[in-house]
Amino acid sequence: MPVSILHVVGARPNFMKVAPVHRALAARGLAQTIEHTGQHYDAVMSEGILRELGLPEPDVNLGVGSGSHAQQTGQVMVAIEEHFSKARPDLLLVYGDVNSTMAATLAAAKAGITVGHVEAGLRSGDRSMPEEINRLVTDRLSQWLFTPSADGDANLLTEGADPASIRRVGNVMIDTLQRLLPVADGEEQLRQFDLRSGTGPKPFVLVTLHRPSNVDDPAVLARLMASLEKIAERAPVIFPVHPRTRERIARFSIPYARTVLSEPLTYLPFLGLQRHAAVVVTDSGGIQEETTYLGIPCLTMRANTERPVTVMVGTNQLLGSDTATMEREVARVLEGHGKKGSVPELWDGRAAERIADILART
Ligand code: UD1
Repeated sequence: MPVSILHVVGARPNFMKVAPVHRALAARGLAQTIEHTGQHYDAVMSEGILRELGLPEPDVNLGVGSGSHAQQTGQVMVAIEEHFSKARPDLLLVYGDVNSTMAATLAAAKAGITVGHVEAGLRSGDRSMPEEINRLVTDRLSQWLFTPSADGDANLLTEGADPASIRRVGNVMIDTLQRLLPVADGEEQLRQFDLRSGTGPKPFVLVTLHRPSNVDDPAVLARLMASLEKIAERAPVIFPVHPRTRERIARFSIPYARTVLSEPLTYLPFLGLQRHAAVVVTDSGGIQEETTYLGIPCLTMRANTERPVTVMVGTNQLLGSDTATMEREVARVLEGHGKKGSVPELWDGRAAERIADILART
């Protein structure tokens, strides 16, 4: 059994994943430390979410902040290596596919520390996305590969991973969603965005877009916004905006009038809105999974996904950059013909328990 466990997290989607694992390991009395790299630092992108998840304050904050990929990766590596020289964990647990995940893994591998990757094996096959590089490197260097779905196992085996290191445990993000859904009723958000009607929530469209492929090119972002404006003639469009997207919309002077742009939301308000949405338009990874779990049609504005189970089993559709199809599909959903799906195997709220059981047995 590992005597001391270090969790390294850095960006918004990491927090929902570490929370259930931390709880499950705490219940087994294992000594744990949380280190926050500071990749995300805004109150809403970071502290607010940590509080809602009931996570303790991170023991260490490296304060790395924004920067180029090499800067972020390098700074996290240097800081983590320094931490290892003072306190050497028996096991490093990392989550998902953000720069902090890969950087911490690299530092640990060089220091000879065992690494466990939660959400291992996902592949989009698209190396133009920084997350795909992060996934490949992290998995290659990890001794424990905790996968959320069968495609993850298959990808890892194809790449030559040791079969004994692969453990299919299910989806830890769904553990968090299941636990917090009862407290995220969305009532306050429905009022805030004027989405209440006499009979129930008005059918509305929820949008999140922040990937470089959608927001870094002025023409692409302008086309997406123009489509959302058209959709907003028929139904309310609510768009909580990531800081990088907000900056691009301002810099490229992209017009909008009907689409409701809000600040980014913390976890509970976003989940509250999501559960009532008629349809979600996104380029996020996690939201493809959450909508599948909630049974809400999801239109993903990407050419590929590292989460194919959400398309094969769930409610997700990949639309690439095809805004005409996006408009048509939203209209179909509003007419009651949205894609139906089911919940993938092992997305049952017990993934973190399985991870803790495996680690406690070693
Ligand atoms: C990162 C992850 C991405 C994930 C996303 C979720 C990588 C490579 N990407 O992308 O996979 O989907 O988080 O949000 O790790 N910024 C702020 N405040 C913050 C954080 C960022 O204003 O708290 C702005 C800065 O202008 C920064 C930009 O957002 O330059 C990008 O932040 P960064 O952490 O580099 O990547 P994300 O786009 O957030």
